[in-house]
Amino acid sequence: MIVFGIETSCDETSAAVVVDGRTLLSNVVASQMEEHARYGGVVPELASRRHVEQLIPVFRQALAEANCTWTDIDAIAVTNRPGLLGALLVGTSAAKALGMALKKPVVPVHHIEAHLYANWLTHETVDYPSVALVVSGGHTDLFHLRGHGDYVLLGRTRDDAAGEAFDKCARLMGLGYPGGPAVQKAAEGGNPKAMTFPRALLPGTHEFSFSGLKTSVRYALQGENLPPIADIAASFQEAVVDVLSKKTIAAANELGVERVLLAGGVSANTRLRQIMQERCDKAGLALFYPPVALCTDNAAMIACAGYWYLQNGRAATLDFETRASEPLAGVQ
Ligand code: KG4
Ligand code: ZN
Repeated sequence: MIVFGIETSCDETSAAVVVDGRTLLSNVVASQMEEHARYGGVVPELASRRHVEQLIPVFRQALAEANCTWTDIDAIAVTNRPGLLGALLVGTSAAKALGMALKKPVVPVHHIEAHLYANWLTHETVDYPSVALVVSGGHTDLFHLRGHGDYVLLGRTRDDAAGEAFDKCARLMGLGYPGGPAVQKAAEGGNPKAMTFPRALLPGTHEFSFSGLKTSVRYALQGENLPPIADIAASFQEAVVDVLSKKTIAAANELGVERVLLAGGVSANTRLRQIMQERCDKAGLALFYPPVALCTDNAAMIACAGYWYLQNGRAATLDFETRASEPLAGVQ
């Protein structure tokens, strides 16, 4: 089954062609990052307008790179929730038009679930049950994944998301936008033990909190005789990674699962991948994370999720809604 994926939930216009949820024929990502960088964050109206301009060229390129025509496509998968509403509507309107014209099913996909499916796209041995940590610009969620579409939310952040903490602290450190990659780069060669930043472990819960860390970084930067910025960035990054890895592994041990999945933009972080690997190895857990290019927003993960939705009878009619927010799963 050949699925054409569409992603426009934030500031990347992306289209991809994926066979059987596994074989990636193309994954074109047109990023608006540079344009939003001058405002220090994503400007929703600007994002929608750029999606309108870039969508058709990106579709054409995705088909050309996959060496396909529209007649080869069996289904269309599109992000319809959560995200910036205007940005999402550009993608879902195009998907509905395509579905109508081609008389093919259109599958509306949950963006966070698609981040999880990026692991299915790239690892043959990934399976259920597992514990998954989704760390993106807007989410820090810990899930118990019991089967396709069968998820329990174990906990989430009480305040800032991990990616948001990276972005905000990068701004405080004068490192630019987007903050995650900038902090990672600045931290290279830095001493992660140079400064002791607080770690909110919130024992007895699967919840997270990063606002205290952010405040602590702000106060530290006001001090005198500061260590080099590489040390401050490395110490901040270490505090985030330490909490994320400890809490994820504790959840996996508590539930008795053997697999841990990472997903979302922050899972591109080299230090997070490294510490997670060390700690999972020690705990006897199998760790899965997508290649860096599939951690941040892309349409390949949407196409992969769409394939699994169809395999599991989760098709929809063309009158599906587009929504700015919707939790992937509830707490049980
Ligand atoms: O999943 P994503 O691309 O978009 C959302 O759905 O939010 O995640 C974007 C977030 C941003 O906060 C960005 O700073 C962070 O992921 N990020 C990183 C890295 N690459 C992206 N954070 C830490 N280290 C990275 N290498
Ligand atoms: Zn995302």
